Amino acid sequence: MTPSDIRDIRRSLLRWYAVHRRPFPWRRTRDPYRILLSETMLQQTQASRAAEHFRRWLRRFPTVAHVARAPQSDVLRAWSGLGYNSRALRFHALARIVASRRPVRFPSTPEALRELPGVGRYTAHAVACFAFGAAVPVVDVNVRRIVSRLTRRPDRTGAYVPEEEAWRIAERLLPPRRAYDWNQALMDLGATVCNARRPRCGACPLARRCPSAFSPRLAEPVKRTAKREPMWRGVPRRLHRGRLLTFLHGGPASAPQLAAGLWNDAAQKDVEWVEGLLGRMCAEGLLRKERTLYRVA
Ligand code: ADE
Repeated sequence: MTPSDIRDIRRSLLRWYAVHRRPFPWRRTRDPYRILLSETMLQQTQASRAAEHFRRWLRRFPTVAHVARAPQSDVLRAWSGLGYNSRALRFHALARIVASRRPVRFPSTPEALRELPGVGRYTAHAVACFAFGAAVPVVDVNVRRIVSRLTRRPDRTGAYVPEEEAWRIAERLLPPRRAYDWNQALMDLGATVCNARRPRCGACPLARRCPSAFSPRLAEPVKRTAKREPMWRGVPRRLHRGRLLTFLHGGPASAPQLAAGLWNDAAQKDVEWVEGLLGRMCAEGLLRKERTLYRVA
């Protein structure tokens, strides 16, 4: 991409955004607590549904101090319907850290934000930009898809550029004085035009500069020759299910305990995966959940 391509891409997308922006409640605030809350919810929930949860949550917990003061059970109850309870627990821990500072203040740089529990690179950049106006890129899977399509022709699989490369391209594209609108605009473009399955290149403000525009390969769903068995850590899911049931026949346990039973180096991702699987097993009637404990039904 030449500097003139980049200038044109910036101008075209910002102009499009001025007309097509979606009116979300988290776009009417610069409060870091609200921004962080919205971005945490948006990691797992569609934006339209997240907006409902966001409003309800703020009626119950208007500030970070309200979250910090609440017992864990209240926080989990307020989170219900959003899934991944571990995210709620980390948000609660984060609230307690921030609320205990004097003065109560959120960190404002991506580096300092990442030291908080549950805050990864994406969230740290989102809060630094949307709450504190930092001119930093914000790359989630939608943005990664856009910059992939924008910078090279799709290969047969429609694969995206590697994560690190996506951040580098996003950094080059970012207009430093319009970082907030630019990053929000990419999110909207990814959600409503440059989507994964059926990109609407005819409606895209960047189509003129996009080497992937109107490529038939984009709209093709990725073909799978055979239905692949779902795996985690290289082991089929059904084997993990069996082991979970064996553990639970020995007595009730929480998701983190079960994850630790499966892998002695269990990470947060593993706990979330196990929670998802346990939720499915509850829905199938195999297990029951009481507060944080699972038991055989
Ligand atoms: N998805 C993640 N962050 C978002 C935001 N700020 N607006 C809309 N969708 C999003």
